[in-house]
Amino acid sequence: MSDAQTGELSGKVAIVTGSASGIGQGIALGFLRAGARVIAADLNANVETRNLAARERLEGQLHEVRADVTQEDDIARIIEAAQERYGRLDIMVNNAGGSGALEPILDIDAKGFDLTFALLVRSVFLGIRHAGRFLKAQGEGGVILTTGSIAARAGGCSPSLYAAAKAAVVQLSAMSAVELAPYSIRVNTVSPGPIMIPGFASSGISAEQLIALQPWPEAGQPSDVAAAMTFLASEKCRFATGSDWVLDGGILAQGPLWLERLYGKST
Ligand SMILES: NC(=O)c1ccc[n+]([C@@H]2O[C@H](COP(=O)([O-])OP(=O)(O)OC[C@H]3O[C@@H](n4cnc5c(N)ncnc54)[C@H](O)[C@@H]3O)[C@@H](O)[C@H]2O)c1
Repeated sequence: MSDAQTGELSGKVAIVTGSASGIGQGIALGFLRAGARVIAADLNANVETRNLAARERLEGQLHEVRADVTQEDDIARIIEAAQERYGRLDIMVNNAGGSGALEPILDIDAKGFDLTFALLVRSVFLGIRHAGRFLKAQGEGGVILTTGSIAARAGGCSPSLYAAAKAAVVQLSAMSAVELAPYSIRVNTVSPGPIMIPGFASSGISAEQLIALQPWPEAGQPSDVAAAMTFLASEKCRFATGSDWVLDGGILAQGPLWLERLYGKST
């Protein structure tokens, strides 16, 4: 038997949004290796994700859907694809996202606000709503995971509106966990710190620069988020719901570094 047949997610069907790049690609590949069948949903074609899966002979477990997660019809279509292709759904990962409006608050207009919240919050609401309704009707429980960010908890991590949107996502997820618990549907957020994605590399940011921000001596990778989500999606984590799992190499624990900034030393 291959790993995929004996893995932690063997027999499960998962949707991963934003699967064509970065963290979502890592989650899709991690889930495939753990034995899940995956609907890979993205605005862009999953060319690289498909090629990477093929290298490990896992492409047969992968089905691609082009979709815009800000659009309700598209979210409904992704769920339908899971039912049509694999006959069920077990895990929904609301991961697709982007930076949103980059300007200071005073310079963002209402349109910029709406577009940012559509990409980062409305998309998650739609994912929870549609997957939640499907899983409830299926009657076998399920798991909904969302990619949050440590920007929800501290300043200096992102543009202001992104931070506000991610804070909304964390609480939306927690409240959904309370409402969906009676149906054995677990809802959790994973909140990464800086994770090495192609976007960083193409703008000249190195792993060493990320490491310098944090106590942990290695840069966070998409596979680290995938490992956390695989565990959270598995039966081993059956009591975890409503949580926000920080995955940041210790950045939040490190805090504002005021001793170092005032006195040039940390203790
Ligand atoms: N990389 C980090 O350091 C970091 C840290 C914390 C949180 N995050 C979060 O991780 C998630 C994934 O981002 P990433 O860092 O992997 O970036 P990425 O740009 O590498 O990947 C984002 C993916 O989402 C897709 N996407 C964007 N808008 C979409 C839409 N409307 N519909 C469908 N797909 C869409 C893109 O095509 C892309 O494939 C985001 O929610 C982001 O906020 C990233």
